[in-house]
Amino acid sequence: MKKILFIGAEAMPFAATGGLGDVLGSLPKAIAEAGEGNVDVRVVMPLYRAVSEQYRSIMKTEAEFEVGLAWRTQYCGIKSLVKDGVTYYFIDNEYYFNRDTLYGSFDDGERFAFFSKAAIEMLDKLEYYPDIVHAHDWQSALSVIYLKCKYGTRPQYSKMKTVFTIHNIEYQGIYDFSILSSVFELDWWRNTVEWDGCINLMKGAIVCADKVTTVSPRYADEIRGEEHSHGLSRILNGNACKLYGILNGIDYVYYDPETDDSIAQKFSADSLDGKYANKAALQKEVGLPERNDIPLISIVSRLAAHKGMDIISEMIYALLGNCDSQLVILGKGEPAYERFFRQLENDHPDRVRALITYDRDLAKRIYAASDIFLMPSKSEPCGLSQMIASRYGVIPVTRETGGLYDSIKGYWEDNGEIKGNGFTFANYSSFELGERSAAAITLWNNEDKRIKLIRKIMHTDFSWKSSAIKYIEMYDAL
Ligand code: GLC
Repeated sequence: MKKILFIGAEAMPFAATGGLGDVLGSLPKAIAEAGEGNVDVRVVMPLYRAVSEQYRSIMKTEAEFEVGLAWRTQYCGIKSLVKDGVTYYFIDNEYYFNRDTLYGSFDDGERFAFFSKAAIEMLDKLEYYPDIVHAHDWQSALSVIYLKCKYGTRPQYSKMKTVFTIHNIEYQGIYDFSILSSVFELDWWRNTVEWDGCINLMKGAIVCADKVTTVSPRYADEIRGEEHSHGLSRILNGNACKLYGILNGIDYVYYDPETDDSIAQKFSADSLDGKYANKAALQKEVGLPERNDIPLISIVSRLAAHKGMDIISEMIYALLGNCDSQLVILGKGEPAYERFFRQLENDHPDRVRALITYDRDLAKRIYAASDIFLMPSKSEPCGLSQMIASRYGVIPVTRETGGLYDSIKGYWEDNGEIKGNGFTFANYSSFELGERSAAAITLWNNEDKRIKLIRKIMHTDFSWKSSAIKYIEMYDAL
């Protein structure tokens, strides 16, 4: 039996703020299934205040001990529960994790140093020794660094192999050297974590890990260039032999229009009428005219410039002016974009709804209802929304970057046969986005082609199946 331990800062459905949580909530189960009983996958994450009583009440206490971090000694409880055949461990420490938000505290460096160290210390306490420790993003980077630098003398630990996955290279865990010894206990390993005059935890994990992966093959290539690397291209090129990309999938049980109770009517590629019922229901819910003769365009995203909001804002008035359509936006983010979309709604009250909030069920109702989905990110490690949209029969309009490039191919026709599964453009330009969005609207207006393309999109496989096998192959190689 191969034993894999995932270490990460969030996992659905316990506590999550973004795509990392989706992945840690669905990939372990997929790996366990693909491993057909030969792979034991477990996950460890912090026990945040956000973890609900529903889960706390079924947790078992596995161990209680103290973790030393430089001059501090902190309580550490290990709780556990099993979900979908996967054991989840929770690191309990109220001082660090009983807070309103998951991230954004002044002492995040210390909080996640504690988390990373506690996750490693836990293994001895539970006498559970995984073959592979698979850490995700900067918050757990120190677990890889500690294993390599500090735990080599413990025989059980020295055999463990490590994988570090970069979900987003923008957040690296960068700190001043003043806390190198007083928080991170890495005074002897200054060179390992030093980058550009600071402590850089992601750089340390890249150097220490046996394999480094990203969440799409294209992004693995892109981050070796300066444009996308946020300063780490040199270190990634130096470690290129252990770097590669595996495309994320989505949870095909949670996102399934045929069984989803949170949408108005269930549907499938063969019963698209159900999709139109969802459209009417959403139009009613948000107070837009109930029309099925025009496409409903949607945006479900953090409202941030790098998600493409700047090029959307440059072209959207013209698109609405030229093409009869409706638009629904769901998301929160930079105040300037929140104001922009509210103003857009004010200017087009019978065509636009700006829903400035986060709401997972509402997001599903929007996917189920809408016809065209805009996701023109400037940079996108993988992106899950384009896959969820596809699963719910929405035509994606995406920019050819990162995981968007790997998952969505541009529409064209070959002797009447439809190729591709969306509309894509190469340059980060509002002109190209506008042109491809208009092309998607034109296609949507042709019912015959629309149905053919939507069926093709819905049949594209974005499940975890093939990627889970790639992870297992990588673990085998290690
Ligand atoms: C990050 C990335 C996103 C990716 C997700 C899961 O949130 O920005 O592109 O899909 O992680 O890997």
